[in-house]
Formats: sequence, structure tokens, C-alpha cells
Amino acid sequence: MTVLAVASEVYPLVKTGGLADVAGALPLALAPLGIRTVTLLPGYPKVMELAGEGEAVADLDDLFGGAARILAAAVHGLELFVLDAPHLYNRQGGPYSAGGFDHADNWARFAALSRAGALIGTGLVPGFRPDIVHAHDWQAALAPVYLAFEPARPRTVLTIHNLAFQGNFPRAIFGALGLPDGAWSIGGVEYYGSVGYLKGGIHAADRVTTVSPSYAEEILTEAGGMGLQGLLRGRGRNLVGIVNGIDTEVWDPARDRLVAQPYAADTLEARAQNKRALEAEFGLRRGDGPIMAVVSRLTWQKGLDILARILDDVVARGIRLVVVGSGDPDIERAFLAAQRRYPDRVGVKIGYDEAASHRVQAGADAVIIPSRFEPCGLTQLYGLRYGCIPIVSKVGGLADTIIDANFAAMSTGAATGFIFSPVEEGAMLDAIERARRAHEDAEGWQALQRQAMRAKVDWRESARRYAELYQAVTREQ
Ligand code: ADP
Ligand code: GLC
Repeated sequence: MTVLAVASEVYPLVKTGGLADVAGALPLALAPLGIRTVTLLPGYPKVMELAGEGEAVADLDDLFGGAARILAAAVHGLELFVLDAPHLYNRQGGPYSAGGFDHADNWARFAALSRAGALIGTGLVPGFRPDIVHAHDWQAALAPVYLAFEPARPRTVLTIHNLAFQGNFPRAIFGALGLPDGAWSIGGVEYYGSVGYLKGGIHAADRVTTVSPSYAEEILTEAGGMGLQGLLRGRGRNLVGIVNGIDTEVWDPARDRLVAQPYAADTLEARAQNKRALEAEFGLRRGDGPIMAVVSRLTWQKGLDILARILDDVVARGIRLVVVGSGDPDIERAFLAAQRRYPDRVGVKIGYDEAASHRVQAGADAVIIPSRFEPCGLTQLYGLRYGCIPIVSKVGGLADTIIDANFAAMSTGAATGFIFSPVEEGAMLDAIERARRAHEDAEGWQALQRQAMRAKVDWRESARRYAELYQAVTREQ
């Protein structure tokens, strides 16, 4: 079985969030199950640096206004097709924006990615014929749409990592997409008078998946469906939730070169050195009281504006806080202001820092993830693996991956974190306080850490479920 994955970010080449982690790890987990994955991604400057030496395996004379090539490369055990299209991807800034503004031609940049995926799906690269084209998020969602109009095509799967990003563009671009006129319809990409990439993909793909069972249910509701609930309900059993795993080699506290002192569940004492290192790095006063952490995009989704509002109360309880993140300027400012108020109790690093994220998970006592919605969430899984106890809201994948430390779960040794609901100041503060009190009992806390570290967070089970899905969908042909 051969899969062409199409994604706009792939760890370790380019990453803005969890999508990259998933696109970088799933192929490695599928390989032992006999599934070969080649991943198509855009040739951003950083990608060209790491994979630009690849062999040109196909040429396109005109892909949305310029010539393009497909380069085959192998990086960190991943097989890649790099879409080398300088007119679309050779830009300063991140994959989607520069200087805080989305690239004005994102509609073309990601229609091109999807188009290239569909072309490879139908034989553009000599000798490569995938059984499945697996598109990730709106940036790749037109691939199943293009393929739906091909008489001989591979089967298609679309994974929704976040329904908040739908790729909606003005009607005026429709003509440039090169889709048949019939695609301008309710059954195509038309979405309330605009062109909807994710909408079209949800309709066209043979199967739609999302990244946790709870999120798969939430998106069928008015509150969680972000306008697409009707269409998603219509997909019935062809919509499934498969929870993400993590790459347990990249995230391994016993062998992590990015942390001061590697440790395992039976050498938890050694973890204290990482806590001391974290205090030093973030200028925190030393102490045995809990350090709680945030590693996140600082956006409305993540609920961190609410955390910022209760910060004085949190600090007053003797809790120290470390924040690594970037995003919404108001939320950044709120945390920076807290750092000025409590310079030795709140440490803030604005920016994206992969190595720091490892140091935080290895040194903090707890990681707070108070999301308003969370399709899956990976940060809590890294927390489990590192014995950095997750304090999470009861939504989406957070609810599916953490077991609340209530009396019953504590007494059976099942608890792995603290869960609160609703996503409001009071409930959040209660959970933080529960964690603070639990932390006072050093032995009980260590037991909780060991339980967390035992949780299954690798890809094995979920990779098996993707494999089954691929098999089922190819059998239908
Ligand atoms: P999302 O994809 O919605 O941002 P996830 O929890 O699925 O949320 O994935 C976030 C990923 O990005 C994790 O790997 C997390 O460690 C990482 N991350 C987020 N913000 C930062 C940051 N400022 N520095 C380093 N890593 C970050
Ligand atoms: C999205 C979601 C996050 C999920 C990630 C990977 O960015 O916000 O919850 O873990 O995709 O699937």
C-alpha cells in the first residue's frame, strides 16, 4: 500500500503547530505496517535548504503562474516530494504569512499544492502510483476535489486538524482553480457564495477523519461545527476521529539531548535538576513549590486570555509560571505585564522555540492547556511522557487523553492529570488549586507522574486505525 500525504508543514522541516508533528510522525509509524508514505510539501526556503538537493522527478510548465518541479528527497527517514515553485513559496516569513499578514495569494499557493497532489495521484511522477491520497487541513483539501473529477483516481482521505481554519476565498478566484464549472455548486467548493477549500474537501473525500473521537462529535454540533456541521453530519460513518500519537523518539525524557538531565519514571529525582535549570533560565526564584507552564500558540482557541486574567490569583497561591509562546499581541502583552509585576515568579519567552519546549516539559511540574476547543492537542501528550502533569479543559482531544485525578481515579492509580469544565476563570482556578494541593504531597505527586509517564501516547494504536481505514477505503474501489 502506497500513500501520498499532502501537507503544508512537516516536522522537522517546517512547523507552526501540531499538524507538522503529525505529518512528520505518522509515516514512520505506518511503515512497520507495510504502508509506504511519500509526503508532498511546499518548497519554502527552509525546505529547499534541507531537501532542495533532491532529484527532479517531474516538471510542470505552468502551475498557477509559473514553472514548477517535483523533487524527490529523503530527510530524517521521511520520503518527500518537494513542490519547488519559487513564484509561490520562495518568500520571507512563515509558511502562511509575513510580518503578521497572510500572503495575499494563499489561495493560489495552496490550490497549487493540492493540484500537484492530485496530479501525482494520477501518475505525474513516473513509477509512482499511490493507492491513497491523504490530504491534511484546508491547505491540501482541494486535492480530493481535483481528484473527484478524474475517472481513474486513487482513493482520498481528508484529515481535519482544526475546523477554525477553512480556507475560504472570494468567488472571483474560482475560474483560476482549473476546476470544471460543475464544481461551483453546493456539492463542490461553493460555500455561502465563496470558495471553500475545506468545505469542498469534506464533500469530495472518500473518508474524512479528525484527530480525536470527542472532536469528531463536537464538530457535528452548532457550537463546534463552525458552519460546517450540516455537511459533516451528512458524511455519517465516513467521518471518524482517530486520536494523534507523538513521536516517542523525538520526545523521550530518558534520551533527550535538549534537556539538562535526562530521566525516566524510575529516576524521577533526577528531574529536579531540570527544574533548577528552568528556574535559572527564566529568572525564577528557587523553590520547591510548583512551577506550572504554558507552551502554546497564544490565541483565543487556547483559552490563555482567561489564564492571564487569573494570574494574580495563581501567583498569590505560591505558584510560579513559565510561558513559551507567541500569537495574539494582547495575550502576549498580558503575560509580559505579569512578568513585570512578578519578575521572579513569572517567566515569559515570546517566540517559537522548539528546544525550550523540551526543557519546559522536563522541568516544570505541570503544563496548563485551557483550550476553548482542541481537536487533539499534543502538548498534553508531551506532558504525560515527561511527567509534567497536564491541567486541561474538558474539550476535544484533551478530554480523550487525560484522566482526571478525582478520588476514584486516584484510588485505582488511573489518574494522569487535572480536568476542568467549563472553560471559565473559576473552574480553571479550581483545577490549578487542586494540582497545587496535590503537589504538596511529594509521594502522591510522584505516583501521579509515574502514572502519566505510563500512559500510551505513541502512534502504534492510531497508526493501526489509519491503516485499517486505508484498507477499507481501497477495498471499496
Ligand atoms: P496546535 O497545533 O493547535 O498549536 P498542538 O498541541 O497540537 O496545538 O501542537 C502544538 C505544537 O507546537 C506542540 O508540538 C508544541 O510543543 C509546539 N509549540 C507551540 N508553541 C510553541 C512555542 N512557542 N515554542 C515551541 N513549540 C511550540
Ligand atoms: C491542530 C489542532 C491541534 C492538533 C493538531 C494536530 O493544530 O489545533 O489540536 O493536535 O492540529 O492534529
